[in-house]
Amino acid sequence: MDDKNFQWPVFTMEQHPGFYFIPEALGIEEQMHWIKESLTTFPQPPNRTNHTAVYGPIFDLWNRAQKDLSETTSDNTPDNESNKNSADGKSYIDANGAISGEQQHSTSIPLSVLLRKLRWATLGLQFDWSKRAYDLSLPYNKMPQKLCDLASKLAEPAMPDSEFHAEAAIVNYFGQDDMLGGHLDDMEKDWSKPIVSISFGCKAIFLLGGPTREHKPTAMFLRSGDVVLMAGPARGCFHGVPRIFVDPKQADLPDFSTCDPSCKTFIDYINRSRINLNIRQVF
Ligand code: OGA
Ligand code: MN
Repeated sequence: MDDKNFQWPVFTMEQHPGFYFIPEALGIEEQMHWIKESLTTFPQPPNRTNHTAVYGPIFDLWNRAQKDLSETTSDNTPDNESNKNSADGKSYIDANGAISGEQQHSTSIPLSVLLRKLRWATLGLQFDWSKRAYDLSLPYNKMPQKLCDLASKLAEPAMPDSEFHAEAAIVNYFGQDDMLGGHLDDMEKDWSKPIVSISFGCKAIFLLGGPTREHKPTAMFLRSGDVVLMAGPARGCFHGVPRIFVDPKQADLPDFSTCDPSCKTFIDYINRSRINLNIRQVF
């Protein structure tokens, strides 16, 4: 690297100008910090998630779902989603977004199930997926400063002469069978500004294609702590995540067992999931 003491090895590909791969950019403690944030604070309203349009804002999903999970385990109650028994210690949410310690309607579902079905959350400027546009009328919290600082440091290889200003991020949550279809991120104005993409948890296949769907994509693995930048020509390339690998032996995961005991529930989650933080400068 030329300047600013960028501290990681960076890989590029001749056939994909504007694409940068920074393996193992984040250490174990730092990864655990962002995994915790992604599960506890990032899905908090006013940030929107895939559940917001259906249930309205849901506060403290992670903590409330953990309570369900621990009571389920200690009771040895089978995790039966159609179980109508209200005395099972779980919190339920109904179609109006009302949360209750009992299953009020046959359509109410446990919060632990909603956590399992959490697919995305948006940070900073909020996004209207139906219009594929930022909706500046939606209430939002500014991006956490620590995440802005990290993103602008990581973005340096793609923009050595100016600073990256993180204004929005999408947090993607992948379970065993989840994938992200081929797409272009074309909602932001200035494509010279990179997308900064950080991966946590299970290994994934990332496909990087070209400006149309006809281009044959390049496949690569993304692992926990890896960072990818898409800038310039690569910013306009189709890409997707066709699958993740949930390995019972966790061979591809960092050894999170060195983290303090309060991390246990997060380790249980991330051993079977992947989280991707996708950070953007909108203007
Ligand atoms: C996205 C995206 C890639 C990944 O959120 O737009 O492309 O690695 N994510 O999950
Ligand atoms: Mn994308």
